[in-house]
Amino acid sequence: MSLIVRDATLEDAADILAIYNFAAINTTAVWTDGPADLSSRREWISARQEAGYPVLVAMKGKDVVGFASFGDFRPFPGYRHTVENSVYVDERHHRLGVGRSLLAALIERATALDKHVMVAGIEAANAASINLHASLGFVEVGRMPEVGSKFGRWLDLVFMQKRLASSVRP
Ligand SMILES: CC(C)(COP(=O)(O)OP(=O)(O)OC[C@H]1O[C@@H](n2cnc3c(N)ncnc32)[C@H](O)[C@@H]1OP(=O)(O)O)[C@@H](O)C(=O)NCCC(=O)NCCS
Repeated sequence: MSLIVRDATLEDAADILAIYNFAAINTTAVWTDGPADLSSRREWISARQEAGYPVLVAMKGKDVVGFASFGDFRPFPGYRHTVENSVYVDERHHRLGVGRSLLAALIERATALDKHVMVAGIEAANAASINLHASLGFVEVGRMPEVGSKFGRWLDLVFMQKRLASSVRP
C-alpha cells in the first residue's frame, strides 16, 4: 500500500496520541514519566501550526502509521534559523521506510521555511533513530553523558544536525 504524507489536522490527534504514548510508556525515545492525554496532543498540534510549523502524518490507506514535526530549537531570537525535529512511527510499521519519508518531508518543509539547520536530540542507544538521521545526512555533533534518566538508569543524549539547502542569510 502506498504511503501518503500530509499535514495533520486536529482529527488526527487520537492516532498521534496512541503512537506517542506507546513510545512514552515503553521506550526511551521520549523522556517522559507517563502517557500524555488527548487535550495536550491537540494543543501541541495547534501550537505548532499556529507557529507556522508543520505537523505531518504518514498514511497507509486510512491508517495513521507515523507522525513528525519540528519546532524552535531554543526559545531565543538568535536560534530563529534552527529547528529541532521529532519523528515517531507505529511499531507495527517499523523498518518499512515510513520514518525516512517523514524525515525527508520535514527537511523539505524546513528548507522551504528558510531554516538553516535541523537538530535531532536522540537517546544514545536509539540506533534506529541515529541510523535514520544519518541516512539523510545528519551528523553527530555532540554527546552528553547521563543528562537524562528513565526506567531506573541514566540516559545519554546524542545531538545530530543537518545543514539545510536554504539560502537564508544570518
Ligand atoms: C526511529 C524510527 C522513527 C524509524 O522509523 P522507521 O519507519 O522504522 O525507519 P525506516 O524504515 O524509514 O528506516 C530508515 C533507515 O533508518 C535506519 N533504521 C531504522 N530502523 C532501524 C533499526 N531498528 N536498526 C538499525 N537501523 C534502523 C536504517 O538505516 C533504515 O534504512 P534501511 O532500512 O534502508 O536500512 C522508529 O524506529 C520509531 O518510531 N522509533 C520510536 C520513536 C523514536 O525513537 N523516535 C525518534 C526519537 S529521536
